[in-house]
Order: sequence, then structure tokens, then C-alpha cells
Amino acid sequence: MQSETEFADAEAEYPNAIEALRTRRSGHNFDPEGDVDEETLRALIEDASLAPSSYNLQPWEFVAVQDDERLDEVVELAYGQEHIKEAGTAILVVGHTELETADEVFDQWVEADRMDRETAEATQEQTEGLYGSDRMSRDYAIRNPSLAAQNLMLSAHARGLKSTPMIGFDQDGLAEFLELPEDKVPVVLIAVGESGGEEPERLPRRDVDEILHHETF
Ligand SMILES: Cc1cc2nc3c(=O)[nH]c(=O)nc-3n(C[C@H](O)[C@H](O)[C@H](O)COP(=O)(O)O)c2cc1C
Repeated sequence: MQSETEFADAEAEYPNAIEALRTRRSGHNFDPEGDVDEETLRALIEDASLAPSSYNLQPWEFVAVQDDERLDEVVELAYGQEHIKEAGTAILVVGHTELETADEVFDQWVEADRMDRETAEATQEQTEGLYGSDRMSRDYAIRNPSLAAQNLMLSAHARGLKSTPMIGFDQDGLAEFLELPEDKVPVVLIAVGESGGEEPERLPRRDVDEILHHETF
């Protein structure tokens, strides 16, 4: 019998997108001879930048490390995760804790006639208040860039590359090594590269019946 989910797939408007997100895997098996060229790197970042963000504030930056000696340092800071070196490209997704894009972005809302000036100013002030506490400022820095990170990984997969998200690294050490300013936080480190072969079978996912709640938790 066809499951409800299979039925939904058949009806999908973008079946390739469904297939891409269902076949993406975290790679631990990269081809050490393969490289991510600058054009592809830029395409990955452009796709990442199309992720949704609060008021389109896009509080993210990306630091790509491709130099061999520097990758050795990154491997060390990531507790010896050699697949980073084999992938050949490590991208640190970085989050803003301050609303540094707000002036520019709220101007764009006004210029596009999506908000009047008064509403934009009030919204910006309210947003600055909302993200004023340490807790909310850190949430802001992590939530938005995490969505960009997933876009980046799906884009890599769609382009025939493999990627691996990692938080297993020395946060302060990597922030220092990559010279992150004080008001920026490391969100997730993503190894990207050409595949060196199959990955082990995917571990099971929790059942939809277990994780989907209707109306209340
Ligand atoms: C927040 C986060 C942190 C992760 N950290 C690491 C890591 O440090 N090293 C690693 O090899 N994989 C890491 N992973 C990859 C997970 O192990 C992987 O996503 C999970 O096992 C599911 O496998 P799949 O991505 O192939 O579906 C991380 C994934 C996420 C989302």
C-alpha cells in the first residue's frame, strides 16, 4: 500500500528538491584529490544566502579555509576530524550577535514599498529591544545562520558534492584562529568536497508518529 508520504512525494511541485533532501548525507568519505573551485564555492554561498532570516537581516558570514597547512590546524581544533582535510574545504558559518545589517535592510523594506518609514523605524527599534538580552542575541546568532547552513549543504549535494556539518571543535580556539571579531559566534563548521565513495547506511530517523504533535505538545 502506498504510504501518505509517498503520495505527497508524487504530488510534489519540485520533486528534485524532495529527492535532494532525502538523499543528502553527512560525508566521512571524501576524495582527497578533489577540490571545490572558487566559482562553486561562491555558488554555495549564494545558495546559502537565499535562506530565510528574521526581517531578512541575514546575520551570517562564511569563512572558507582551503589552504593545506591551515586545514591541518582546523583538523587539530576539531579534535582530529581528518575528513576535514580530505574534503579540502572547511567553511565556518558565523553568526552576528548584533543587528549590524538593520539600517541597510530596513531601508530596503521602505524602498521596496513593503513598509513605510515610520513602521520600519518602529520595527527596527522593537527588534533591537528583542535581541538586546544575551540570550536572545545568541539565539539570533545561531537560528538564522543555521538555516543558511542547511541551504549550503543541500546546494552542495545538488551539485554532486558531499558535506558534513560539525560542532565538534574548540569554539574559542577556532574563533581565534579564524580571527572572528568579538561580536561574532561560530555556528557550525561544514566540510565540503568531492565524494570518495559510499557512506554507511543512514541511521534510522524517529518516526513521524513520535515527533509530530497536533495542536498541543
Ligand atoms: C549540529 C550538528 C553537529 C554535528 N557534529 C558533527 C561532528 O562534529 N562530526 C561529524 O563527523 N559529524 C557531525 N554531525 C553530523 C551528524 O552525525 C549527522 O548529521 C547524523 O548522524 C545524521 O546523518 P546524515 O546527516 O548522514 O543524515 C553533526 C550534525 C549536526 C546537525
